[in-house]
Amino acid sequence: MNKFAVFGNPIAHSLSPTIHQRFAEQYSLPISYEKIGPDENDFENALSTFFDDADAVGCNVTAPFKGRALQQADTLNKAAELAGAVNTLYKKDRRLQGFNTDGIGLVADISNQGVELADKKVLLIGAGGAARGAVHPLLEAGVKTLAITNRTMERATQICEEVSVSHCIALDKPGLMSFDADIIINSTSASLHNQLPDLQHISFVKCELAYDMAYSKEPTLFMTYAEKEGATMSADGLGMLVEQAAAAFTIWTEKLPQTRPVIDKLRKR
Ligand code: ATR
Repeated sequence: MNKFAVFGNPIAHSLSPTIHQRFAEQYSLPISYEKIGPDENDFENALSTFFDDADAVGCNVTAPFKGRALQQADTLNKAAELAGAVNTLYKKDRRLQGFNTDGIGLVADISNQGVELADKKVLLIGAGGAARGAVHPLLEAGVKTLAITNRTMERATQICEEVSVSHCIALDKPGLMSFDADIIINSTSASLHNQLPDLQHISFVKCELAYDMAYSKEPTLFMTYAEKEGATMSADGLGMLVEQAAAAFTIWTEKLPQTRPVIDKLRKR
């Protein structure tokens, strides 16, 4: 039986095993998918033990190991390179291929909301690992402008310098006031602590979708704030989680699982 796993710490609450088992059921594929939560110092050992098994095909990697997973990969896709983080590893011909599917998941879920990214003005709040994972796929989706803002502006500027295309710009407070974004994405970890980033200089009036990469049973603080300030629609990151998993599943199996029934089922939990 093909073996898969997700590595992270903490890992107990990960939804990845459930999501991948549902995908596998769609194709009647028997798979095993386990959660592995190594100690801080043990990640590399645990990963190589997992892949020593001839049945091991691939794994997902989540916090805090995404940066270290990149170090373990023999090859990287563009999104992983730019993100400096790998969330999906695939063992092929004894070599480990590293991918970052988080941004692909984001783009797919924005499309699930019925929102077009092509030619849109997009504002990305945050410049950490989650933001970095999103930048390349958002640009690939053909956005008109990708503006990045962050509490620590140097990190936003740094990403734009690395990307080095004229329609990817770092925006500080004065610039934000005159940037009427169509789509506003919160990639900060503030939601995880039930906090909001500073949104004072951001206008939601023209915003058709406010997207929070975090997810919870109730609408997040960011979603509630955005709608109150005029956003037409808001969404949390549950769909992104399922879509990034689907992209990983496709890398491993070349199959395109249906995500909608899985998202709906998780939403009802
Ligand atoms: P992740 O991998 O989840 O992106 P990270 O790399 O630690 O984690 O980045 C966290 C992001 O959330 C950063 O953009 C961080 O801002 P700083 O670069 O200024 O640290 C942002 N962030 C976290 N808590 C925040 C808060 N309370 N208000 C605003 N931004 C916050």
